[in-house]
Amino acid sequence: MTIFAPRVFSGVQPTGNLHLGNYLGAIVRFVALQDTHECLYCVVDLHAITVWQDPAELKRQIREVTAAFIAAGIDPKAHIVFNQSQVSAHAELAWIFNCVARMGWLNRMTQFKEKAGKDRENASVGLFAYPNLMSADILAYKATHVPVGEDQKQHLELARDTAAKFNHDYAETIAALGHGDAFFPLPEPLIQGPATRVMSLRDGTKKMSKSDPSDYSRINLTDDADGIAQKVRKAKTDPEPLPSEPKGLEGRPEADNLVGIYAALAGTSRDQVLAEHGGAQFSAFKPLLAELAVEKLAPIAGEMRRLLADPAYIDGVLGDGAERAAAIADPILADVKDVVGLLASRRR
Ligand code: TYM
Repeated sequence: MTIFAPRVFSGVQPTGNLHLGNYLGAIVRFVALQDTHECLYCVVDLHAITVWQDPAELKRQIREVTAAFIAAGIDPKAHIVFNQSQVSAHAELAWIFNCVARMGWLNRMTQFKEKAGKDRENASVGLFAYPNLMSADILAYKATHVPVGEDQKQHLELARDTAAKFNHDYAETIAALGHGDAFFPLPEPLIQGPATRVMSLRDGTKKMSKSDPSDYSRINLTDDADGIAQKVRKAKTDPEPLPSEPKGLEGRPEADNLVGIYAALAGTSRDQVLAEHGGAQFSAFKPLLAELAVEKLAPIAGEMRRLLADPAYIDGVLGDGAERAAAIADPILADVKDVVGLLASRRR
């Protein structure tokens, strides 16, 4: 059995406002994994252009996501922070995976169906092939662990299927070239914590998302203290007090969501929050949640503003990260080409 060294990879799209869902479902987990793993965190700008992006705005958003990573506590010196388009291995490996993954697999992707909507004929080819680029992001580094929110689970399954099919189809060459019985690891999704699916503050049955037309549906990472407090105050709830156990949250999506958000912000569990606040009315719970959210999020917004005032620093971080990322990905891509039978000269 080929053993792969543990390595973490994850990505965030620079499209629209980063929100509490991105923060609690992904970025907080990215920060935590730094203590135990070698990590690569990527601003996936090539994924962003699968739907139309205003060019000037896209550049701003790439810097904004980078600033959010750093402001939230990712250390770009100890780990690698970069943007996808600066490391050409992602696009090259994605092409090879376009030839490994099957149409049928991609046809089943719910995110494509949601994003393409009824007018599938008019969706970009890139939007359809999006999951293959995502597989390439991860496997260009032979990453073993991928922290993501619940909504990325299906894409991660496809990445595993693609890695397994590559390992299987090329098994003979992989062994002959000395890579053992598997070239790629099967990357494991890390979908953990009380906020893997943060819901809209206006409708507890809908995911919190960048594309929701109502700004009151989400807390943006750039919201100031007043904005955060106001959105929590206006969040939809039901008239019942909080239960004292998670079972009591069943059928109460808005209550469940606010308890999950509280637990994630406080770094505890739903059980713990309900043990402490069971019986409380929302009129009492919401101000506590608002206070906690402001305490945790407002400093990040402040730090993001400070970092964004110095775009040269951000661009420096991305340039340095890209160089270090390429140093890992390029030799892996050269090996992939060798396995596939492409005559890849190892240029020096
Ligand atoms: P993206 O940019 O939509 O979201 C970034 C991360 O935030 C998580 N997330 C949420 N978590 C909890 N509740 C929510 N409401 C919520 N909304 C978003 C997402 O699950 C994600 O972890 N395809 C990916 C980006 C990507 C990627 C990768 C991820 C490209 N390549 C390789 C991992 C590995 C995406 O669109 O995420």
